[in-house]
Amino acid sequence: MSYTNLKDFFSAEIAENGMPQQLADLLIGISETCKHISFEVSRGALAGVLGMAGTENVQGEDQKKLDVISNDLMVDGCARTGAVCGIASEEMDHCLTVPADMPVGPYLVCFDPLDGSSNIDINVSIGTIFSVLPGPRGADRNVTDADFLQPGSNQLAAGYVVYGPQTQMVFTLGRGVLMFTLDRESNEFVLTNATVQIPAAAKEFAINCSNMRHWENPVKRYIAELLEGKTGVRGKDFNMRWVAAMVAEVHRILNRGGIFMYPRDNRDPCKPGKLRLMYEANPMSWLVEQAGGRATNGYDRILGIQPETLHQRVAVFLGAAEEVDLVGSYHKE
Ligand code: F6P
Repeated sequence: MSYTNLKDFFSAEIAENGMPQQLADLLIGISETCKHISFEVSRGALAGVLGMAGTENVQGEDQKKLDVISNDLMVDGCARTGAVCGIASEEMDHCLTVPADMPVGPYLVCFDPLDGSSNIDINVSIGTIFSVLPGPRGADRNVTDADFLQPGSNQLAAGYVVYGPQTQMVFTLGRGVLMFTLDRESNEFVLTNATVQIPAAAKEFAINCSNMRHWENPVKRYIAELLEGKTGVRGKDFNMRWVAAMVAEVHRILNRGGIFMYPRDNRDPCKPGKLRLMYEANPMSWLVEQAGGRATNGYDRILGIQPETLHQRVAVFLGAAEEVDLVGSYHKE
């Protein structure tokens, strides 16, 4: 494999595939910001960034200090690119517009600045997820939450940066999935995998089984069959994983296959699932589809869902095509 850094990669995309310069600027801005977040994450207790911030986000979740730090860095990093007209985040009630003294661009960006917050203080993988949508009126300073309510199929770029043993930036522009690894010597993201493919069959599944009693029957049936292994209807054994950070689960699936699920359940009728559509499910679903996998809410393709609110939640089944299709067929029966 020839190794290309992110900036060279975007120069080639601009020349060969007509990638807009401002979209490249935005993704470079996100990559630089995530280097900074990666550094803050790596310092942990040394920098006093672990623990609670003492505040709640719009979903009533307690914010960690690093949630707040990462959100501020992402807001600033995206606004500075001059490529965006609106910014929405898991950590903010409503979208932000670009201040009058800063240049405005044609894109809307949504992000979860630090996904998997419960892993922060225990030094387990976490990540930043991002999704880029077109601003409906181009470079316009009067963006509102309603402008973000576009189906995931409208995304122009989507991806994540995972902060694990390695820091990696993984994204799609709609032409496959690219994985770049942060080279700490050069401080550059370097292309390390350009042939990401999820096998249609799976040997591994990920779900939080502690919620089993709350699941709907199709999910109970599907998981029971996986757990029966060789002796059951599936006739083979399945391995299980649960990292409790969607970024890490999707990263595993993009690298070695499998299925990830966070189904709707009957704990809270107001919450059709735990994960957020705009800045978790949509970007991850596009990545998975671009790697040959599937992503549904059990019934429909996630990328086709018309969002009704910025922080809308959704059930998620994504990964290996055969498994997502099978659990989908149980929902439809
Ligand atoms: O954003 C929500 C999230 O942290 C996901 O990254 C992860 O998949 C899930 O919640 C973990 O949920 P639970 O706390 O039920 O394990």
